[in-house]
Amino acid sequence: MKSVLRHLNMSKLITVFGSTGNQGGSVVRAILQHPELSKTWKIRGITRNPNKPDAQAMIAKGVEMVQADLNSKESILEAIKGSNAVFGVTNYWEKASLEHEVKQGKNLADAAKEAGIEHLVWSSLPYVSKVTEGKLHNLHHFDSKAMVEEYITSLSLPASFVLPGYFMSNIPGSIRPDGSHYSLSWLFRPDTQIPMLDVPSDFGKFVASCLADPSSTQGKHTMAASGWFTPLDVCKAVEACTGAKCDYNEIPIDQYSGSKELFDNLMMILDYDYYGPGAHDGVKTSHQIVDSVGGFGKFAAFEDFLKEIGL
Ligand SMILES: NC(=O)c1ccc[n+]([C@@H]2O[C@H](COP(=O)([O-])OP(=O)(O)OC[C@H]3O[C@@H](n4cnc5c(N)ncnc54)[C@H](OP(=O)(O)O)[C@@H]3O)[C@@H](O)[C@H]2O)c1
Repeated sequence: MKSVLRHLNMSKLITVFGSTGNQGGSVVRAILQHPELSKTWKIRGITRNPNKPDAQAMIAKGVEMVQADLNSKESILEAIKGSNAVFGVTNYWEKASLEHEVKQGKNLADAAKEAGIEHLVWSSLPYVSKVTEGKLHNLHHFDSKAMVEEYITSLSLPASFVLPGYFMSNIPGSIRPDGSHYSLSWLFRPDTQIPMLDVPSDFGKFVASCLADPSSTQGKHTMAASGWFTPLDVCKAVEACTGAKCDYNEIPIDQYSGSKELFDNLMMILDYDYYGPGAHDGVKTSHQIVDSVGGFGKFAAFEDFLKEIGL
């Protein structure tokens, strides 16, 4: 899809992949809602289908929507033409294939290099099989993003790596009404600290802070978590929202019956703080950068997330 906006005299331009989804949508909102960034940055959103309602909703916000497919380097190159910055995200779960996700990420990196992009912000994750020295080697959707990160670094692209925390939206399915109570059943200890992210509310703040302060983020990991929450914190938030008691039911690890991949995800949280060594300091520093840019409002508490989803 060609767009007339491309030919207008603009300030800076960021192209946002995944703009019709969780992470990219949050990036678009963080920029549009920021008092200064909204004046500096024009936004081009990418979708495979500009006619879908989420794409039309972006157009209604003033975002230029352009069609491209991460499976085609040529289409990416055409779509990012004229951009100063690019935000890149891939959806592992569409094919659940490490090779497929790495190929998409490399297509994006190659196109960004060829187009001379000044700043690539890549939605990455820790290289779990390296961090754990091979102990956890089934967490393909983490390793795949880290492999792309290594490839981006090998191309000497100016890039910031933003690592989303554990999505809060993973959790409501484990909160069940139980008569007049609620219960949360999970495989973590009651006091396991998890770096959680309210994606729609907070992810974009971290990416936008990379645009505002590239010298603090390029070549580094930005740990995008709204905060650290334990299962007991989640129960307290349910109680605050509903006025009903919420009990925590810790499921013994030996009763786990899901995939190896999600088992390693749980173990990465239990034994390696999700992000690996330095996780707490990393989240703290990432919050400091967002706060020093200013203008984004506060990070979500778990209760804010529950209210948003209407619990
Ligand atoms: N759940 C967690 O706790 C967690 C934590 C960290 C990271 N993650 C990662 O988050 C990722 C998913 O992100 P999300 O929640 O933002 O996804 P999402 O809401 O499902 O959105 C996916 C976006 O990707 C776009 N897209 C998909 N395939 C594309 C292609 N071939 N070419 C161009 N665009 C394409 C879609 O656009 P169109 O459909 O409009 O084309 C859509 O905007 C996964 O890779 C997962 O590993 C999850």
